[in-house]
Amino acid sequence: MTENDELLLLRALLRASDYGVLLSDASRRDRLCNRRFCEMFELESVDVLQAQPEYVRLHLAARLKDPAGFLETLDFVYADPVRVLEDEVELISPKRRLLRRYTAPVTDQQGNIVGRLWTFLDITRTRSTEDKVRAQAVQLKEQSRQLASALKIVTGRLDKVENTLTLTQQQLFETEKLSAVGLLAASVAHDIRNILTPLTIELTLADQNDPAARAESLDAMRRQVDSLSLLTHRLLALAKPDTLERVPTDVCALVTRITALVQAQAALENVVIAYAAPRCLPLVPADPIQLDQVLVNLVLNAIQAMRATNGGTLTLTLDQHAGGLRLRVADTGPGIPLPLRKRLFDPFFTTRPDGAGLGLFSCRRIVQAHGGTIQVRSTPSRGTQFAVWLPIAAAL
Ligand SMILES: Nc1ncnc2c1ncn2[C@@H]1O[C@H](COP(=O)(O)OP(=O)(O)OP(=O)(O)O)[C@@H](O)[C@H]1O
Ligand SMILES: [Mg+2]
Repeated sequence: MTENDELLLLRALLRASDYGVLLSDASRRDRLCNRRFCEMFELESVDVLQAQPEYVRLHLAARLKDPAGFLETLDFVYADPVRVLEDEVELISPKRRLLRRYTAPVTDQQGNIVGRLWTFLDITRTRSTEDKVRAQAVQLKEQSRQLASALKIVTGRLDKVENTLTLTQQQLFETEKLSAVGLLAASVAHDIRNILTPLTIELTLADQNDPAARAESLDAMRRQVDSLSLLTHRLLALAKPDTLERVPTDVCALVTRITALVQAQAALENVVIAYAAPRCLPLVPADPIQLDQVLVNLVLNAIQAMRATNGGTLTLTLDQHAGGLRLRVADTGPGIPLPLRKRLFDPFFTTRPDGAGLGLFSCRRIVQAHGGTIQVRSTPSRGTQFAVWLPIAAAL
């Protein structure tokens, strides 16, 4: 490449460059600049080349944000011919721009410093993009900080909700446990009262009976006292779930015993008791004390119902039916209206002023615990019948 070719190439490069280029000689006189430089600072290239030594720097300073700083830097740079410097200057005219400035000495082939090169690059757009990215990064950081603290608050609240839920659950559990215990306690108290009522009657009648009847009456009373003591044990054992003490039970004997027990009360209420059972019936695996409660409840209900009809007949029937033993308790009372029939077994459902509404509820509980069923049939003004069915083979 000839020297002329090099010059051509250099000139083409200078013309095409994005850099504004200025070349000054060793005596600080500006000698050469490219088109981009002139555009940046609103200069004609002739101005640069023919200008007085101070002209270009003053022209430039007038267009910069910090003219004094600019002139100081020039003195600083020219004070040391080998100094290299790179910094930024802010242009305010003709437009607000940010320029990256670079300066370094120019040497000839022998290495002698013959002048100084200045370049200026417009970095406004790059910087604003950088600034935007930086601002976005700051914003993102702030947002993530806010999110993190919001998350912390939400987590805290969730923890509180969870704690409250656990507490509520425990309280609910306690309440349910308590109400179940309360229910059982009431049911046992009710059973006790059902034993006490005939017992009191037996006691009043005991005086008037002949010696044989009195002995029988005392026997009945002893059995009821036994039942009472067993019930007390049940009451004390309320914390435990209901357990059945199943033994082979002669239901026929049980019915006879209860019939005898309520006989006196039935007589007072003008109720005649009829009892029918086949001679030979199988034993049933059952808890006799609990079955006692079922029968007492059903029989007392029937007698109480027949007050409305000034007495009547209470028919007890025992037979074998569908693989089990069926006990039917029928009265000739007023019957139960259909809407009430659905609620009979609900706890605390009663139509009697002195009733607790727990008799049928505990009847069903006991029968179901034996794997049996209890059903009601009633015809208004013709009476009611409760049928209890108990399996002969013990349910697993
Ligand atoms: N044989 C019956 N004839 C008519 N109504 C009956 C009969 N048996 C039960 N009932 C009705 O069912 C209701 C509930 O009976 P349940 O034995 O559960 O409670 P209670 O007899 O009212 O009170 P207690 O808890 O003292 O037994 C009774 O109040 C009554 O209205
Ligand atoms: Mg009752």
